[in-house]
Amino acid sequence: MEKISKSSWINSADKLSEYQISLLDWYDQNKRDLPWRSQPSLYKTVVSEFMLQQTRVTTVLPYFLNWLNEFPDFHTLANAREPRVLKAWEGLGYYSRARNLHKLAKVAASWEGPPDTIEEWKKLPGVGPYIAAAITSISLGQAEAVCDGNVVRVLSRIFAVSESFKDGATAQKKIRPLAQLLLRTERPGDYNQAVMELGAMVCHRSSPLCSFCPVLTHCKSGKSGDWNKFPSIIPKPKKIATVQRYWVEHQDCILLYASRKGRLQSVFELPQKLPFHPDPKVEKSKILATRNRTIGNTDYTEEIFVVTLSRDPPTAMPEGYRWMEWSEMKDFTLSGPHRKWINELKKTNDSI
Ligand code: ADE
Repeated sequence: MEKISKSSWINSADKLSEYQISLLDWYDQNKRDLPWRSQPSLYKTVVSEFMLQQTRVTTVLPYFLNWLNEFPDFHTLANAREPRVLKAWEGLGYYSRARNLHKLAKVAASWEGPPDTIEEWKKLPGVGPYIAAAITSISLGQAEAVCDGNVVRVLSRIFAVSESFKDGATAQKKIRPLAQLLLRTERPGDYNQAVMELGAMVCHRSSPLCSFCPVLTHCKSGKSGDWNKFPSIIPKPKKIATVQRYWVEHQDCILLYASRKGRLQSVFELPQKLPFHPDPKVEKSKILATRNRTIGNTDYTEEIFVVTLSRDPPTAMPEGYRWMEWSEMKDFTLSGPHRKWINELKKTNDSI
């Protein structure tokens, strides 16, 4: 990253301390009352940080509370079966986080004590630089700065960082050393959470509340009003794609598919291919609905075709396919959008 000017306040110990104290005082008075902050524990910190990666606090809240009810500690989670774990994660997306958290709990169940260095934490399943710094600072009081999207936004605005980053992950990597210089080492966990909280509550992506900002006097772009130039992240070209899905009902069941590997391993969706030959869509299908969704930088249009079976389907099907009874659907993990679409479309299709 570009050098911060020699005349910047960061080079004055007094000014640095003033910035840290203003931010921490604001945090102490304004922090949200979040369930992982009351009676904190290592387990609560680990679970909340796994959930909060790529997901907003408001979305995470009900999942966190349910999770703690169902899996109150590492030991219970370690002994849980994977389908239960995925089910409790249903709708949060990025299911590898749930699988990694489950694996981590299995390792943790045999700990005499948790690892005490960030490097050891980074060796654990699903623990990258962000989660490792969050856990070691919040739970173990170590002087490790976190750098997520909120931190990038806050710090790039404070220092008017003009460098253009190729993507969010690169920005986080390059701004982390600056975050480390600013860390209040006496209260690293609170300081880290204070910067993230400031990003979530005040330094919004658009229309930040600069007049309420506790560190406005330290913020170059907040004072000049050109906060909207920072961070500068080169937008990725948008892609579009169309996906065909099939809606096949038979008796009291619908045909679903869960992949055996990859991002959606064991998570059921409407199938993209039919397990029958010849493929009956050719003569007997029609579009039931189209649905749009965005994953990463791709906008997907999903076309859902109704397939009417002209004869009983074969009983043996390739791995991953399942005739799921309507009544058992609640017990399985479906991807969040697919459960929503299926619930909506079942009503429409039943009334046709
Ligand atoms: N985002 C991720 N972890 C957080 C935390 N502990 N507090 C506030 N925002 C967060």
